[in-house]
Amino acid sequence: MKKVICQDYNELSIEAAKLIAEQIWYKPDSVLGLSTGATPLGLYKELIKMYESDEIDFSQVTTFNLDEYYRISPENPQSYRYYMMENLIKHINIKPENFNIPNGNTDFVAAECERYDELMDRAGGIDLQILGLGVNGHIGFNEPASELDTKTHLTGLKQETIDANARFFNDVKDVPTHAITVGMSSILKSKKVVILISGKNKSKIVKEILKGEITTSVPATLLHLHSDATLLVEKGVV
Ligand code: F6R
Repeated sequence: MKKVICQDYNELSIEAAKLIAEQIWYKPDSVLGLSTGATPLGLYKELIKMYESDEIDFSQVTTFNLDEYYRISPENPQSYRYYMMENLIKHINIKPENFNIPNGNTDFVAAECERYDELMDRAGGIDLQILGLGVNGHIGFNEPASELDTKTHLTGLKQETIDANARFFNDVKDVPTHAITVGMSSILKSKKVVILISGKNKSKIVKEILKGEITTSVPATLLHLHSDATLLVEKGVV
């Protein structure tokens, strides 16, 4: 895994945006895997700036988000669909039908997971996957476990993930306890993976990852199995 240390959050966001821009210049119909949470917000701001200054054209790009809370309506401002619309999608020229995110508001979870995996396969898989890192080492919502699901699935969120996500809600009781997440195989099958790491609260887990051991109890360590994985980390975190 390649490690790139950035001076600060701003530089991390710019570096990540450059990697996406290069991917789209190289292949205008790229398939991007995207994530939510606090970490990629700066990246999305940079992408919007680059789009507004005609440096990137998203007209042929397809995106697949990693995850969505379960039992949350797409109009709910806490949904990841809403987050993506507000922070990126409505500001760029991506075709609405090319923006994909699991539907967390479904009675037919198995069918939804299958539909999502099929859509990703039909698109040819992910060219560049952007990841964030959970405080417990999760990627997407693949939480630490003795075995990790390979495909898109419904998952229960660990208490530490619920606690970490509580900062986006009025009350910890409002934080969804379940989510639909893309599985490990789609992440590892991506041609290129970039994991963004910002904030001192990630120090302990990044050090764990950088030891080089591979364990399902820290899902991000599986990225050591990937031949083109880059860790972009803010200075001071490692
Ligand atoms: C979100 C996701 C999660 C987050 C992770 C870090 O789509 O897949 O794995 O990337 O929980 O979140 P932040 O960036 O808020 O610390």
